[in-house]
Amino acid sequence: MPTTHSFFSSQTVCVTGAGGFIASCLVKLLLKRGYTVKGTVRNLEDPKNSYLKALQGADQQLILCKADLLDFDSLRNAINGCDGVFHTASPLTDDPVEAVEPAVKGTKYVIKAAAEAGVRRVVFTCTIGAVYMDPNRSPDMVVDESCWSDLEFCKSTKNWYCYGKTVAERAGWEDAKERGVDLVVVNPALVLGPFLQPTVNASIVHILKYLTGSAKSYANSIQGYVHVKDVAMAHVLVFENPSASGRYLCTESVLHRGDVVQILSKLFPEYPIPTKCSDEVNPRKKAYKFSNQRLKDLGLQFTPVKQCLHDTVKCLQEKGHLPLPRVRSML
Ligand SMILES: NC(=O)c1ccc[n+]([C@@H]2O[C@H](COP(=O)([O-])OP(=O)(O)OC[C@H]3O[C@@H](n4cnc5c(N)ncnc54)[C@H](OP(=O)(O)O)[C@@H]3O)[C@@H](O)[C@H]2O)c1
Repeated sequence: MPTTHSFFSSQTVCVTGAGGFIASCLVKLLLKRGYTVKGTVRNLEDPKNSYLKALQGADQQLILCKADLLDFDSLRNAINGCDGVFHTASPLTDDPVEAVEPAVKGTKYVIKAAAEAGVRRVVFTCTIGAVYMDPNRSPDMVVDESCWSDLEFCKSTKNWYCYGKTVAERAGWEDAKERGVDLVVVNPALVLGPFLQPTVNASIVHILKYLTGSAKSYANSIQGYVHVKDVAMAHVLVFENPSASGRYLCTESVLHRGDVVQILSKLFPEYPIPTKCSDEVNPRKKAYKFSNQRLKDLGLQFTPVKQCLHDTVKCLQEKGHLPLPRVRSML
């Protein structure tokens, strides 16, 4: 997998929401590859973003700009002068007011600003939640880039995050076509792995709750998982590869929660990891089949989920979010 400078490396790119989990990992990778990065944050003074300035190469190649997804002018200023845009900012919440408008308006504004600035390509970080949420899909069907989540189903299950991201992606494709913008979309599953930011984001909490004792049982649910470094590399690959187009499903595996807690308890038996499913009535939900072949064809080698879980827990320990296991007395 390419990790060094490329033909594109002398270019300037904008990364929206640079202080977030995925975006900061992407910024680190882009800086390493020689790009100049205009990273947007909502508050330039907020100390929570200061870790970005300590990234290798940041002093010379990282420019932080203030921008909000609901403020077109701020996005236009950030995107102006850029060769590419990675639109990663979006709230990770199921609150209908907070989730939908910034996701949809922000994507439309980014496409508009990218068209005005004449950028070469926009990469939009969507989600597998815009792909697989369809109750009418046959259980034998392989989930791939041709699948779309059912908006009525997202609404009726109050999954406003998936609803907002699905509407945002659809609007992105429409606007990009209308405005002649070259758009490529990455649809990651739940993202795990080491994080650079000081706080724990929503996808890391998904694992943290199984280690702290706060989750007494696990849900009868399935979920796709992918390593944050693979997500960052997927963004770079689809940006740099001239023939990349359309959507790219970015998941390494799909597991039942029972499998997740089993892996965790084997790797980290010292934590109070739940052993019971909260649903003792219904049959165990089955993982759907999926294809991540499009990203593999671009050269992405996915990190196994066991490694994702291991790296996540190690990072939680190193950053002080999880107590370190006590060393057993030898006496
Ligand atoms: N993590 C996952 O499992 C996962 C999976 C699939 C797709 N994704 C997608 O990946 C992207 C990043 O997710 P993440 O996990 O890295 O989330 P994160 O750590 O919570 O970061 C989200 C970023 O979006 C910014 N943001 C939120 N609302 C904004 C607004 N109105 N204006 C400007 N910036 C705003 C946040 O800025 P503040 O710091 O100011 O709040 C933050 O920088 C999102 O688009 C998400 O939908 C994530």
